[in-house]
Amino acid sequence: DETKAGVKGLVDAGIKHVPRMFHHPRDELDKHSPVSLGGIQASVPVIDLQDAKDDPGTRRKIVQKVRIASKSWGFFQVVNHGIPVSVMEEMKDGVARFFEQDLEAKKKFYTRDNTKKVVYNSNFHLYSSPAADWKDTLFCFMAPDPPMPEELPEVSRDIIMQYTKQVSQLGCFLFELLSEALGLQPDHLKDMGVAEGLVLLSHYYPACPQPELTLGITKHSDNDFLSVILQDYISGLQVLRQNQWVDIAPIPGALVINIGDLLQLISNDGFKSVEHRVVTKSVGPRVSAACFFTTLLRPNPRTYGPIKELLSEENPPRYREVTVREYASYFNAKGFDGTSALPHFK
Ligand code: SIN
Ligand code: FE2
Repeated sequence: DETKAGVKGLVDAGIKHVPRMFHHPRDELDKHSPVSLGGIQASVPVIDLQDAKDDPGTRRKIVQKVRIASKSWGFFQVVNHGIPVSVMEEMKDGVARFFEQDLEAKKKFYTRDNTKKVVYNSNFHLYSSPAADWKDTLFCFMAPDPPMPEELPEVSRDIIMQYTKQVSQLGCFLFELLSEALGLQPDHLKDMGVAEGLVLLSHYYPACPQPELTLGITKHSDNDFLSVILQDYISGLQVLRQNQWVDIAPIPGALVINIGDLLQLISNDGFKSVEHRVVTKSVGPRVSAACFFTTLLRPNPRTYGPIKELLSEENPPRYREVTVREYASYFNAKGFDGTSALPHFK
């Protein structure tokens, strides 16, 4: 029961010291100073999607911003993306409700069986990472084979279904913009099936008594095509930029978008999947909901390699073809050690 109570359970029990298993190596912990470019503090681009669907001129400008952000930062934030603020607020509340309900109710979802569609656990990388992370997580595999509504936790069932449906739609639109940013037809990425799978990761980061010793999430890049992150106002998410950690500031109404390893692979390095992490705070809890566009549960026979239309003599393929499952298996087997899995598929 102790492990099933998660990191939240430790904090609720009143611990004053972070247990040793959560201590991260010192070189991983140092909080690099923010990037300064000519005195101006750099931050992840914020892209306003207003009128992107209706006005061709506006769309061209947006696509250009998406291209630059995806090539250099691997991250951007979007505003006026069409998902109502009320839905976003309710989703954050839904995440908090799941983790803050009685342990008895939460325990029903606790499993290390990786074929289940709804899975609660504390540290899914526990056995493959050098140190444990200061967070608890709920996984919901929402597409292509959604769980039955009754399989979802009752306290957040409605909002999980509503929010992920909206993110699916937004994702399809983002893949259009990303296709255009690569110089392809708007439907190119969607036709490759990249929007078919959706995994929701709801994270709960309790306040930490010694934030200088641990991390909410170790440095990593995502093993999907694209991620859409909803974060609350606590902050803590950071992206690696020119070898320094840059805070991704919470902006009211915004969603954080990042390129995953598989999109870097099929874009033949046209877009970058960039390392990020979450630092812990003495305030909290922090909650977030990350939607991963990837198919993981159902074996997807499709193979993914660099998109032929992007290749030329000057731009030869830099990766071999992989299935999503093959990529994920290697990603997990390699260990959650802060290094990228991509070079293995060169
Ligand atoms: C992540 O999925 O890498 C972290 C998302 C977050 O909690 O902000
Ligand atoms: Fe991530």
